[in-house]
Amino acid sequence: MNAPLDNEALNIAAWHLREAKRVVVFSGAGVSAESGIPTFRDDGGFWTEFPPEIYATWNGILRAATKEPRRLAAFVHAVIAPIADAEPNPAHRAIAEVGRRKPVTVVTQNIDRLHQRAGSTRVLEVHGSMYEVVSLNGKKSKRTLTQSQLKRIAERVRRAKYGVLSLARLLVAIRPIAGVGITGAHRPNLVLFGDSLAEPDWSDALKAAKECDCLLSVGTSGLVLPAAMIPAYAKDAGANVITIDPGEGGGDIWLRGKAGDILPRLVARAFD
Ligand code: OAD
Repeated sequence: MNAPLDNEALNIAAWHLREAKRVVVFSGAGVSAESGIPTFRDDGGFWTEFPPEIYATWNGILRAATKEPRRLAAFVHAVIAPIADAEPNPAHRAIAEVGRRKPVTVVTQNIDRLHQRAGSTRVLEVHGSMYEVVSLNGKKSKRTLTQSQLKRIAERVRRAKYGVLSLARLLVAIRPIAGVGITGAHRPNLVLFGDSLAEPDWSDALKAAKECDCLLSVGTSGLVLPAAMIPAYAKDAGANVITIDPGEGGGDIWLRGKAGDILPRLVARAFD
């Protein structure tokens, strides 16, 4: 069972949030967990089901395509389907609410667009977005998908998990997001291990971290560099750093619990 929320820590966090002139929210998979999207490293997370040495690199994915296409189809489906079905949860909405009261930059490692759908207007996607299709070298934006397009792709990929000719059916299923078309090769705008972070979002995120006076770090293990340096940049520049996460750890102010529970309470205490 989770420990009860520290009321004094909540008061201090609310005070910092109320007084802040510029806020950065740094978010990870935990903020979307209550929308039904698994995290990476918790029980049942993506990397506990699918080894990141294979599935977190483009080369590994290409190798999996030839060696175990059904397993690759299962991975692609596991990534796309929950995103296609997800709706913003109270944590995303509470973050958007802070943005209606003062300047907020959301720096997210998530690729699910849920912050934007909840109403946050300045969102920097440092690991890219599942909704965006780019040229093979990642330089040119080709198109943005709708949620219903993503749902259709997820359904076709689901069918490629079974039966014969998995690879051929997978390639057809993902053609809207990856493959070769008349305008050249295209792929989802995702940052995998070894890739540079998405620009200009990453440069803008560093600037926002250095300029904010309060940073909320929500639902991230903080293990993946360089994105995980964002809270430290903010702290070094003098910001108060508040961590919201049910896991173990200790920042300056640690509100232990689920984002969908803590964030609405924090926002209510800061502004009501
Ligand atoms: P992780 O899976 O590493 O960490 C998820 C964090 O969310 C953990 O600290 C959990 O305790 C916390 N958590 C779980 N449920 C929560 C909830 N309901 N509310 C709040 N917190 C909750 O995910 P990330 O830190 O996002 O990058 O992972 C960072 C990067 O690693 C990802 O962007 C991805 C991955 O490899 C790439 O693939 C490049």
